[in-house]
Amino acid sequence: LQETALSEIKDMQSIEQVESLRVKYLGKKGEITSILKEMGKLSAEERPVIGKVANEVREAINDAISSKKEELKNIEKQRKLAEEVLDVTMPAKEFRVGKKHPISKITDEISDIFIGMGFSIAEGPEVETVANNFDALNAPKDHPSRDMSDTFYINEELLLRTQTSPVQVRTMKNEELPIKIISPGRCFRFDAPDATHSPMFHQIEGLVVGKDVTMAQLKGTLDMFVKKLFGENTKTKFRPHNFPFTEPSAEVDVTCFKCGGEGCPMCKGEGWIEILGAGMVHPNVLRNCGIDPEVYSGFAFGMGLDRITMLKYEIDDIRLLFENDMRFLNQF
Ligand code: DAH
Repeated sequence: LQETALSEIKDMQSIEQVESLRVKYLGKKGEITSILKEMGKLSAEERPVIGKVANEVREAINDAISSKKEELKNIEKQRKLAEEVLDVTMPAKEFRVGKKHPISKITDEISDIFIGMGFSIAEGPEVETVANNFDALNAPKDHPSRDMSDTFYINEELLLRTQTSPVQVRTMKNEELPIKIISPGRCFRFDAPDATHSPMFHQIEGLVVGKDVTMAQLKGTLDMFVKKLFGENTKTKFRPHNFPFTEPSAEVDVTCFKCGGEGCPMCKGEGWIEILGAGMVHPNVLRNCGIDPEVYSGFAFGMGLDRITMLKYEIDDIRLLFENDMRFLNQF
């Protein structure tokens, strides 16, 4: 019995198999156990002799099982170690970290400049009311920008905002005075895409409203802003313009940061680049938002973020910004 058991144990390949042998020989109904149970039937002389042998056999099988289990455990451990070995000389998998989109980078940079001047950020929805996008901003009913061919209308009352200016309306209607906000975001116009047009684009809006807000403060604010964005030597030029929501209105040019105003391909030889629209908030707009223009005044400005991104990174086609070509995006 002992010999068979020991040779069976020796051949076992897994801990489970060894365990089944233990049950077979040493378990409650095991072969050795039943022999030991039969001991009572033996004579007083036989009992100690057989008992001794039976116990020795049991010990031997028990030991064999324990050491077999130990051996199998060791084999398993070695196998795992071999399997999990790390080859530190193996080339690592390529690890790609995402990058900020150039428009996001410029948006952050511009936002930081204004935050440094005490502005906070306000956001508005991309689906706007016609009332906020046009009516409250004093756009005449026949203004060309309202045309179906310029604006994505959702229905008679809703549209995809064509500018970030409606955030002015929301802020003036909902916030306490004084107001000092900028509002970056996406805008939409029914334009056929080409190198300078995209039906989806980005603007950043600025609005300051309070007592004694002046045009001089507007000029000072924008002057400081462009110096921080384009460099200390940048100069600004305000040209009279017309926007429905400001009076007076201006377009703002900056000296070309590439040639410093000498004239180069970037500024088409002009030395100046137009980057902003701005003006004093029209009294009608203040009134439409429940603010008394006799007591309060404000200035506002707006600029195209895509255009500024293109200027700063010298990108010559706006479509590149929205094609998500990794070869392009990885350059920033
Ligand atoms: N909303 C104007 C546009 O889309 C940009 C603009 C001009 C915004 C003058 C302003 C502003 O706040 O005062 O062309």
